[in-house]
Amino acid sequence: MTATIIDGNALAAELRADVRRRAAALTARGVRPGLAVVLVGEDPASQVYVGKKVQACQDAGLHSVLERYGAELTEAALLDRIAALNADPAIHGILVQLPLPKHIDAQKVIAAIDPAKDVDGFHVASAGALLTGTPGFWSCTPYGCMKLIERTGIDLAGKHAVVIGRSNNVGKPMALMLLQKNATVTICHSATANLKHHTLQADVIVAAVGRQNTVTADMVKPGAVVIDIGMNRNAAGKLCGDVDFAGVREVAGWITPVPGGVGPMTVTMLLVNTLEAAERAAA
Ligand code: GUN
Repeated sequence: MTATIIDGNALAAELRADVRRRAAALTARGVRPGLAVVLVGEDPASQVYVGKKVQACQDAGLHSVLERYGAELTEAALLDRIAALNADPAIHGILVQLPLPKHIDAQKVIAAIDPAKDVDGFHVASAGALLTGTPGFWSCTPYGCMKLIERTGIDLAGKHAVVIGRSNNVGKPMALMLLQKNATVTICHSATANLKHHTLQADVIVAAVGRQNTVTADMVKPGAVVIDIGMNRNAAGKLCGDVDFAGVREVAGWITPVPGGVGPMTVTMLLVNTLEAAERAAA
């Protein structure tokens, strides 16, 4: 079997077109959705990420503000800025790019964001809303993975999903989203004794480890859906995921490529969350 590729670029383009339409309708009613992106320090990768987020807002017709501060910004000054953005009616979503400089407590900063504007879904109130199945913002990367899985047309009810990785912003929320769709969920991690034993039983595998070739063809049940969140560089410097794509695509039923799979969906779901924050504020 050769897997069908789930095209993240195509799905992202469709969803962004929908955001653009809904943003235009809301703007016509006098509420232009707005996102504030806060970057502290000069981390090169973060600079690239925030640039993409601001550009995506512009392309979708959203208002965006990029606030850049030097690495010497104090925690108190950053908390003051968050308070001002919380109170700003032109801003519906607030994103503080991580990582923050070491002298700033990231948890404290995220906790200061109004949950109604927490479009990253990182606030404990957002995590709690996901846990309890109440309204709140979902973390963008796992949310994007759910949209990719939805694209296969497969009903997750009763399926066995194996998530590899247990980070607060990706692995754990991913498991909760799959559970909410009635999958039977296993979370594997660095201390899991026999990863292959678990993945071979999976109808859906989501790999969020950050190490290439974590999932190889011998670990995948024929026909499984394989979602690759990894973003790694191989020995030749080429971008690759956590899944051995060439091998696994011969066994899986569906697979996401890297690049062009999960990557474009993360920023897309940020736009969706920002639009929904504005729609809720305008309701
Ligand atoms: N750093 C890397 N990815 C992300 C993200 O999705 N959101 C924020 N705020 N920081 C990040």
